[in-house]
Amino acid sequence: MSHYFPPGSTLGVLGSGQLGRMFAIEARRLGYGVHVFSPEENSPTAQVADREFVASYDDLEAIEEFARSVSVITFEFENVPAASTDVAQKFALVDPCVDILSLSQNRNREKTSLAKMGIPVPQFMPVQNRDDLFQAVEKLGRPSVLKTATMGYDGKGQTRIEVDTDLEQTWREYEGQESILEEFVEFELEISVVGARSRQGDFTACGPILNEHRNHILDLSVLPAGIPENISQQAIEITRTVMTECNVVGVLCIEYFLTKDGRLLVNELAPRPHNSGHLTIDACETCQFEQQVRAIAGLSLGRFHHYQPAAMINLLGDEWELGEPDWQELSRQFPDVKVHLYGKQEPRPGRKMGHLTCLAETGTEAASRVRKARELLTARYR
Ligand SMILES: Nc1ncnc2c1ncn2[C@@H]1O[C@H](COP(=O)(O)OP(=O)(O)O)[C@@H](O)[C@H]1O
Ligand SMILES: [Mg+2]
Repeated sequence: MSHYFPPGSTLGVLGSGQLGRMFAIEARRLGYGVHVFSPEENSPTAQVADREFVASYDDLEAIEEFARSVSVITFEFENVPAASTDVAQKFALVDPCVDILSLSQNRNREKTSLAKMGIPVPQFMPVQNRDDLFQAVEKLGRPSVLKTATMGYDGKGQTRIEVDTDLEQTWREYEGQESILEEFVEFELEISVVGARSRQGDFTACGPILNEHRNHILDLSVLPAGIPENISQQAIEITRTVMTECNVVGVLCIEYFLTKDGRLLVNELAPRPHNSGHLTIDACETCQFEQQVRAIAGLSLGRFHHYQPAAMINLLGDEWELGEPDWQELSRQFPDVKVHLYGKQEPRPGRKMGHLTCLAETGTEAASRVRKARELLTARYR
């Protein structure tokens, strides 16, 4: 438990997207070296890291070489095969632990484990074959949501089962992979809590953060969420319980549904910094990426304390569809809005390219301001 890696040590990150990039930026600010491992070349993380290992996640020799080159390994991408994390663990410390990774890799395992801890989740049934699907729909009713148990993100691998959905046809799309059917939750709103836990077992949390999705992809996040205090406390306590029970060192985010009748249900968890926590970079005394660095390095956590209410809005590839966004006009009309870009070359629709954050007197005001700022980026094309 006494693992402490002072500045000057090298931290490893598995996965090389924007989460790894923002982690690496904080790590370097604190004087750490960063090595990144992923199958992608010139990735958002590699652009700011000291060294890039390009290999498949199941290339065990490459994983060994990577692990030997760092003191501690963390993740920005949780779908790393167990065989690879097993090898990594022989040569470096791995945080968060492999148990929470395995749990978050499979929606059935995740929901079953949460339910065992006494944490409320939507009703669900594992779907392994055609009969399971028909029985599950019979039990959970329509609408309900069918999801692949593994590898889903940004709403990919999900189908809403409506009154008129042809189950035979839906089954053909899901056949051959483990899936899960969930009750359709009539939520009032969606929130998340970003938790951080140190090697010494200290816990701190940011949130709840209010989240709005567009086409199943996070669009807007607002802090504070503006929900009753008792529900906020409950969401934070659930996050603490999960992190403590699973002995997570690092950052973990839980996405919740708040139902119309005031119940809090866990939708999913991510054992890493989360898109909804990006506003912590500009709004908080310590951001989620610095917390991740501090936790895995064996330092004490900082405070998440936010200076002012804040809002974050995502910039997807769609914003580039008509041409380069008008950064110059944005900088002129919204000098206070913070622009974060992830260094991705190809702006495909739905691809997360960057985000904007702004602080204001209230969350509502901040939300309205980032919306306007994003609109301005493409205004000259409209
Ligand atoms: N059971 C459900 N009931 C209602 N809406 C859901 C349900 N599951 C997912 N959604 C909606 O789809 C979004 C994405 O689903 P989620 O399970 O979080 O997958 P992903 O891994 O793609 O983020 C959620 O944030 C929510 O808006
Ligand atoms: Mg989600």
